[in-house]
This record gives sequence, C-alpha cells and structure tokens, in this order.
Amino acid sequence: MVSFVSLRNDLNMTLTNDQKRYLEEWMNFLKIPSVSADPSYKKDVAQAAEWVKDALENVGCVHTEIIPTNGHPIVYGEHLIDPKLPTVLVYGHYDVQPPDPLELWDSPPFEPIIKTTPLHPEGAVFARGACDDKGQMFMHIKAFEVMKKKGSLSCNIKFMIEGEEEVGSDHLEDFVKNNKQKLTCDVILISDTGMISREQPSISTGLRGLSYMEVTVTGPNRDLHSGLYGGAVANPINVLCEMIAQLHDDKKRITIPGFYDNVEALSENERAAMAEAPFDLEEFKNSIGIKEVSGEASYSNEERRTIRPTLDVNGIWGGYIGEGAKTVIPSKAHAKISMRLVPNQDWNEISKLFSNHFQSIAPEGVTVDVQTHHGGYAYVTPTDNIAYQAAHHAYLDTFGIPPIPSRGGGSIPIVPMFENELGVKSILMGFGLDSDAIHSPNEHYGLFNFFKGIETIPKFYEHFSKLNGNNI
Ligand code: BES
Ligand code: MN
Ligand code: MN
Repeated sequence: MVSFVSLRNDLNMTLTNDQKRYLEEWMNFLKIPSVSADPSYKKDVAQAAEWVKDALENVGCVHTEIIPTNGHPIVYGEHLIDPKLPTVLVYGHYDVQPPDPLELWDSPPFEPIIKTTPLHPEGAVFARGACDDKGQMFMHIKAFEVMKKKGSLSCNIKFMIEGEEEVGSDHLEDFVKNNKQKLTCDVILISDTGMISREQPSISTGLRGLSYMEVTVTGPNRDLHSGLYGGAVANPINVLCEMIAQLHDDKKRITIPGFYDNVEALSENERAAMAEAPFDLEEFKNSIGIKEVSGEASYSNEERRTIRPTLDVNGIWGGYIGEGAKTVIPSKAHAKISMRLVPNQDWNEISKLFSNHFQSIAPEGVTVDVQTHHGGYAYVTPTDNIAYQAAHHAYLDTFGIPPIPSRGGGSIPIVPMFENELGVKSILMGFGLDSDAIHSPNEHYGLFNFFKGIETIPKFYEHFSKLNGNNI
C-alpha cells in the first residue's frame, strides 16, 4: 500500500481520488522488475506485458492483445471510434534498464517510494523505470481514461507498447514491417524524452542515432607474470587505452577517417535559434558535480550533446580487478564503445568505418576483434505540420507559455524506422527532466511531471482532431 503521508499538498498538488489511484497503479507497475537485458528477468518482463494489457482493458480499450515475439512480447491495443476521425498510434516501452549498481540506490529500485527533492517539492517517485518509460508511457493510458470518462475522445487510438526498447527493439522492427495495415495511423505519439524544465516546456524535435561496438584486444595466449614478461610483451590493456586515446584529437574531434563525411551541418540561423533556449552552464555543471565541461571545439555545450556526433567508452575491463594486488599482464582487454550519430550518418557504415579504423591502429603484438552490437538512425521531427502544431497548442494550454522545439541527444532507434516503414512522423512529447537520473541509480519522476503529462496529452488529441478539420 502506498503511503501518502510524505506527500506535501501545499504546492498546487492536491490530488483527487482518481489521481491518487493513478499514482498507486503506477507504483504497482514499477514493482515489476521488467529488465529486458537480463534473461533471468524474462518472467517479470512477461508479467509487465500482462500488466499493461490489463491496464488498457481496465480503462475500456475495446481490443487488446499480447503479441509474442522471439524476444519479449509487444502489447497492442486498439480503440477505434469513427473512421472519419484521425488515428493516433501511441508508442512506449514497458521494459527498463538493469538497476545496477544496486549499492548506489538510496532505496531498492523495485520498491517505489515517494520522496521530495529541491526540484520536486511535491514529491517524485523513485524506482527503476519511474520515468523511462513506465511512468511516461502510463500517462498515456491514464490520459485515455480521462478522455473516455469525459466523453471527449476525438481520435481513434492504437497503443503499441514494447518490451525491448532498452535492448535495441530487435523484434519490433519485424512486427512493424509485417503489420503495416494494422498500424495505419496519422501520427505516432511518444513520451520517452525530456523537456527543458518544469517552467519551460519543450517538444523534442530530434533524436541522435547510435552505433554500439565491442572490442577485444588479445596479446599473449595466457595471463603472464608481469615481472618475468613485463617490458617485453605488449600489454593488451595498455594497448587498448592507447588505441582508445587515439580516437579523439586535441580538439575532441573523432579521428576515424570518413566519420564526419555526411554529418548534417546546421545553418547559422538554426544554431542561433538553439542558443536562445534557456540554459545555465553553471547549473549544468553543479547538477552533475563537475568543475568544467569538455567537448568538441567550436560547439556550445548544448550543441555538443544534441546535434554533434560523439564517441564514448561505456565500459572497459580486463586483468585483475579483485581485492589487493596481483602482478599480471592479462591476455585480453575489452571495451564497449558507442557512437551517437546525427542526421545523414548511416549507422551501418559508421560501424564499418570504426571497425576498419580500430583494426588499422592496432600495434604489432596484439590481435583486435571488433563486434557490432546494435544501432539506429537519427531522427528529426519537422515543425511545419498539423501534428507538431497540435502538440504546441497542447503545451500552451497547460503550461501557459509556448513550448520550445529542442533537439535531444538520446536515441529511440525505432522512431526513424516507423517513418521508413509506415511513412508516419512521430511527435515526441516528453515530460522528463535531465535530473530524473534515467538509466542511473535513484531514477525518479516528478508527480508534477506525471500529472502535467496526463493533463497535456488529451489537449493534443483535441487540437489534432480540430486541426484535421473535425468539429469537436
Ligand atoms: N528514452 C530513452 C531515450 C531518450 C531519453 C531520448 C531522453 C531522449 C531523451 C530510451 O529508452 C533509451 O534509453 N534509448 C537508448 C538507446 C537504445 C538502443 C538502448 C539510448 O539512448 O541510449
Ligand atoms: Mn525510454
Ligand atoms: Mn532508456
């Protein structure tokens, strides 16, 4: 049972009975550890799919089904009220990132709890998936409930909620390719990104692409005593570090030949418009505890993390990492390396360029193996269409100020695929904040954001239907 004692109701956050129920349901959902990456959670992932199906059924969605795949299931729902009205396809994911490292959580990741923070005086729910994407996706189910109860539903709705987003959406792609008729719609609506701040709403107009690699450097055929062999044998960890260090130059540009060939360059006007969005560098540094930012020369902090491609090591391991000291030259060293890509970069091509380059800079005395994990293309949402306008007016209605279009740095590889396969654009109405700690320990999602989302989403339907010429 959720305790509301910790909820402060002094900041416009008096909850109705319905809102209390939404909160309770959301917190129950968060108890299911639907970690898609780890096969030991397979049953929990399946249970989360059932939970989503039941949630759709409970709010009166007329047709719901669970579609098994060779990976985790897809939950599909359909509520078609009038063929003359436009159809909105809601996409979201019920899978979550692994909660590790567990010891860095202040409360267990699958025991949701409401706590207040300086940014969230009304409270925020802390749990893995609170924001990404269980909380944000659930707002759509509750928005549907609200519209249905009010009798204000003005569009047909389809829900497609997957369980493999955090591991590359491998099986959703086939499902979409084989079910184009079923998925026919006028727009795809997604809440799986963020906004600038609680005071300043924004609509994500871009996602970066991704190319995810894993490399292994092999030296001697066994681990060696570093006294007997040290100095005469290439140490794979030393070599891997040297190789990684060569992947950027002193201007922090990526040195892979051809890497920047197709990179979309923004016009001075577009860059100037970006620079106008509110941003406080000191606050940015303080929020993550760093003294100075670091990135590609000649680009602003916000450009570096949205419109420019990057290369980062996500993990590196090898040799002895246990207690105490062990003198050893390891046989192997490994790293997981990902690149965030921007429009016009082809992730398959970039993966090949990386692979060839990484092999080519290997010194004598080691062999290098490079594997591609997964990837995806970047995406840009145009702003000159009815769907974007509908989103714009929805935020204007509920925040009282116009939302700013804002390119994001994260990736949702299935979004460009939707456009290719279905020919439909996605509108990214994210209500998260950078401070929500998605993918990190202590992930949370503000009650303000959650309820603001539930309030704003119905406005999108209303405006979208009206802008499509319907008198509602
Ligand atoms: N919801 C995120 C993506 C996101 C978050 C975009 C915030 C913009 C702002 C999504 O669940 C995610 O984590 N995507 C992965 C890619 C995927 C292939 C694992 C990512 O961006 O690392
Ligand atoms: Mn997500
Ligand atoms: Mn994610």
